[in-house]
Amino acid sequence: MALPSILVLISGNGSNLQALIDNCNSGKIPGKIIHVISSSSKAYGLERASQAGIPTMTHELKTYYRGIPKENKDARDEARAKFNKDLVNIIIGKLKPDVIVCAGWMLILSSDFLKPLHQAKIPIINLHPALPGQFEGTNAIERSWKAGQDGLVDKGGCMVHYVIEEVDKGTPLIVKEIDVKKESLEEWEARIHALEHEAIVEGTIEVLKQLNAK
Ligand code: GRF
Repeated sequence: MALPSILVLISGNGSNLQALIDNCNSGKIPGKIIHVISSSSKAYGLERASQAGIPTMTHELKTYYRGIPKENKDARDEARAKFNKDLVNIIIGKLKPDVIVCAGWMLILSSDFLKPLHQAKIPIINLHPALPGQFEGTNAIERSWKAGQDGLVDKGGCMVHYVIEEVDKGTPLIVKEIDVKKESLEEWEARIHALEHEAIVEGTIEVLKQLNAK
């Protein structure tokens, strides 16, 4: 029986993608990465995918914004909606994955992207480098480190959650915690990234399990 197909969305270095590649190759993740889509043509993750023989494509927002001045908010909103619609049409119409994993995908995915996926029954999960209900949005690692060093929180960590319209608010599949201690941002970041590389694998295994349970 064919392995479930996984589409991975990235924007940068791809160290979490690499964890997925390695663990699919070892069989720990019972799935096959069929495609990697990056929101940046400069993402090193594209190189990682190519080296693993995985087809890639880029889908860049700046291409849609080209020629539209920043001040022209309506035109930019329209372009953003087309970016989302084109992306979801490629995914549902062409790639047809069983699941989608956002592994360092840095763009907010709005309802015109999520609704068609929901109708197509394609679950989408995301890795976020903070605990549920804490530090949603960007720069979560730095914000959680600062809060820890200021004594406002005594734990940090990361989670893999289902993607819903509210950013970083979907039901968690995996939550991993670390205790705050006196340390540099770099040390905190390294500990969080190590945790992420485990969480992204466990979260993908879990979403495949829940898919099969349906
Ligand atoms: C990770 O910290 C992820 O949580 C955040 O961006 C980073 C991606 O790292 N969204 P990589 O591209 O997987 O190395």
